[in-house]
Amino acid sequence: MSATARKKAPNAEDIRARKGDLPLVSLTAYTTPMARLMDDHCDFVLVGDSVGMVLHGLDSTLGVSMEMMILHGQAVSRGLEKAMMVIDMPFASYEHDPAEAFRNAARLMAETRAGAVKLEGGVEMAETIRFLVQRGIPVMAHIGLTPQSINTLGGYKVQGRDDQADAVLADARAVAEAGAFSVVLEKIPQGLADKITAEIPIPTIGIGASAGCDGQILVVDDMVGFFTAFKPKFVKRYAELGPLAEAAIAEYAAEVRDRSFPAAEHVFADQAPAKGIKS
Ligand code: KIV
Repeated sequence: MSATARKKAPNAEDIRARKGDLPLVSLTAYTTPMARLMDDHCDFVLVGDSVGMVLHGLDSTLGVSMEMMILHGQAVSRGLEKAMMVIDMPFASYEHDPAEAFRNAARLMAETRAGAVKLEGGVEMAETIRFLVQRGIPVMAHIGLTPQSINTLGGYKVQGRDDQADAVLADARAVAEAGAFSVVLEKIPQGLADKITAEIPIPTIGIGASAGCDGQILVVDDMVGFFTAFKPKFVKRYAELGPLAEAAIAEYAAEVRDRSFPAAEHVFADQAPAKGIKS
């Protein structure tokens, strides 16, 4: 697989240049068919490590490996022509050492054709972000609620309320200053998201943040109703595909049991049909 960027897709600089412009549209994707459905509608698509919870039934993102990200990244890549692809660096692939982060980020990009990586963390990750950017890896940062730190954040709580606000603001400044081309703001108060958006020179991508952010992202299985284990307050369900799929499965099961499926139109005749007639 070649590491060449898609010709029609925006790159990190195009995304950065959208600061203050028409809001950036983004969703997560993990498979080729879903990526194809969003290619015409999204500016960038994130192969999120949420794949672990959404598709693999893990109870957090901590068990997601490089191999899982590469497999899903390759699948998504096959479904995109126009949208940029960003891929998450999984837990324990970048935190310890900038050189190790570089090796893993380069591998993710080379093997999946992603145009950038995303990693979680603010002030404490600024050195790593700078190291990657200086070596040709565009980085999207992710601050506020950072699910890979769930064990030290004490749960999936709103971040940056009251006297925590300055720390989140400092994270935003640090990642922008380190060279990130954009930053995801997850589950922080609206006023703080607006303040960060007004202050930093790179696009803010909100998820549970504010409509005033420079763009928005949601986990696709949340917004179409496939992932129903829980629904965060910031998710809007644009469809209820989970119940629809279950109803279809139940109908299929009933028809198999009463032998009404397969019907005549689903089976093949013993004799080959005459030429020109389909069967
Ligand atoms: O992994 C993911 O899906 C994410 C989004 C929630 C931003 O990081």
